[in-house]
Amino acid sequence: MGKILLVDDDQSARVTLSIALKSEGFSVEIVDGGEEALQRIDQGAYDWVISDVNMPGMNGMELVQRIQAVRPDMQIILISAYRSRDELKDLKICGFLEKPIDIQKLYRILRHEPVPSVEPFAPWINRFTGGLTTKSRTRDPDRSEVIQFKDALARQEFEKRTFNFYELLEKKVEERTRELLEKQRNLEDAYFELRKTKRYLENLIDASPECVISTDVEKGILSFNTMAEKTFGYTRDEVFGNPISILRPRWVEKKNEEIYEMTFREGRWNGESEGMRKNGEVFPMSLFTSGVLDEEGKIIAVLDMSRDITEEKKMEQQLLYAEKLSVLGQLAPKIAHEINNPLHVISANLQFAQMVQDDREKVKTCLEKGLQEVGRIEHLTRQLMDVARPTELNICELSIEDVLENTLLFLKDVGEIKRLEVRRNFTRGLPRISGDQSQLEQVFRNLIINASQAMEGSSSRILTVSTRFLPDLRYVEVTVSDTGCGIPKENLEKIFEPFFTTKEKGKGNGLGLPIIKGIVERHKGRIEVTSRPGEGTDFTVFLPTGAQAAGGH
Ligand SMILES: Nc1ncnc2c1ncn2[C@@H]1O[C@H](COP(=O)(O)OP(=O)(O)O)[C@@H](O)[C@H]1O
Ligand SMILES: [Mg+2]
Repeated sequence: MGKILLVDDDQSARVTLSIALKSEGFSVEIVDGGEEALQRIDQGAYDWVISDVNMPGMNGMELVQRIQAVRPDMQIILISAYRSRDELKDLKICGFLEKPIDIQKLYRILRHEPVPSVEPFAPWINRFTGGLTTKSRTRDPDRSEVIQFKDALARQEFEKRTFNFYELLEKKVEERTRELLEKQRNLEDAYFELRKTKRYLENLIDASPECVISTDVEKGILSFNTMAEKTFGYTRDEVFGNPISILRPRWVEKKNEEIYEMTFREGRWNGESEGMRKNGEVFPMSLFTSGVLDEEGKIIAVLDMSRDITEEKKMEQQLLYAEKLSVLGQLAPKIAHEINNPLHVISANLQFAQMVQDDREKVKTCLEKGLQEVGRIEHLTRQLMDVARPTELNICELSIEDVLENTLLFLKDVGEIKRLEVRRNFTRGLPRISGDQSQLEQVFRNLIINASQAMEGSSSRILTVSTRFLPDLRYVEVTVSDTGCGIPKENLEKIFEPFFTTKEKGKGNGLGLPIIKGIVERHKGRIEVTSRPGEGTDFTVFLPTGAQAAGGH
């Protein structure tokens, strides 16, 4: 459409004008002074020069003269904020515009279209003035002519149309005001409706018999209903902004992570977990979580609905007792089997001893073998008694580190862990726990023996015993980790059942973990397991510190 060189020392004016011109399809180059403009003109071909009049150094008028000395045909437009046209009247230029620039007028000049001295100020006014061109009353010499009409009739006609126009304008304003008022009323109504709905929803959530808690994606608590206050013992102000983990016992931390992951992945999670009240009391709860989505389907919050199911669990326990009786029926053959095996050996050896009663050496061997088997039965019955009717706890203040060191020392002495690399990862300054030293040693002994057995076929045999403590969470944690065969997912549920074993006869009878679980639970603690089949297993025992610990069972 034409190439323009724009000369102006005011940067913002330059940029604004150049954007406007480019949007109309002109190609624009900008410089900020006369000298540079002359250099450009010397080098390039421009169709137009648009220049400010008032510039430091060379002013616009001088620039016009110098351009015309070398390019007499150059089309030039001058713009100025305050020059009067008189000063410029001797210049041969295509146009002069006042700042702020009437851009439409500039376009017309650039397109060589006739430039009406005054533009109708809006297309519609044309309709009312019947297209009569008026001359405005500005100081612009171009615009200074007084409105002239051919005759009085035309003037009358004009005045009539103008009057009609104002009348119509008034009506329109009135109409618009009415419309706006109506809209405002509608908006107010909608706002009140919205507030009502909001309050209604809040009341609904508050009246829910479930604990309704919402958290942000970082698990920080955003809302907490009345039932949640009652159940957890905290007020909303106390929990607001805190992580939801303050409402969970330590041992479900990992599970809680999984629940959130699942909620993010699948939108929801449903199941049972455990909650912890402000006073540290732990209770079973049913839990339903659901992701709250934004318009783009992204999760922005999580709704956590839970219910204390202590009573249901109690009922379940009673049912379980009945079930236990039937379990006894199932266990009895297994127990009989465990006893019968050594019994057979004893019986065979006794019979053999009878046959060779004169050979003292042979009789001695038979009796020794028999006694060994008696020992096996003894061991079994002791374990059974431990499961069925656990011995009372002998509670003392203990250092968990002492318990672990004693256990490791014992296992080293009897050779159980001699082929393992044992790593201790103890946290210093743990609080003391209240517990039964010998029973806790039994717990860790069994765990370490299991770990050692699991690593029999492994190339790396590392046993790590770690301790940890989080002051606000009231538990000491001990983790026994191995680099053994791991536990397949389908077995994870079963390993705490009596007689569940994957070991060959003589190596295990499946009573170790049920006994451990019993002991830990009587200490008001918890045992959790995570395993990576083929890589290893972690058993973590949580034991309450100080005053919370158990006193008997
Ligand atoms: N650290 C471990 N690594 C792999 N599997 C284990 C581990 N601890 C326990 N198990 C599995 O749990 C089962 C039950 O363990 P337990 O109750 O101690 O009985 P047992 O050791 O007599 O088999 C084991 O047979 C084994 O399959
Ligand atoms: Mg075992």
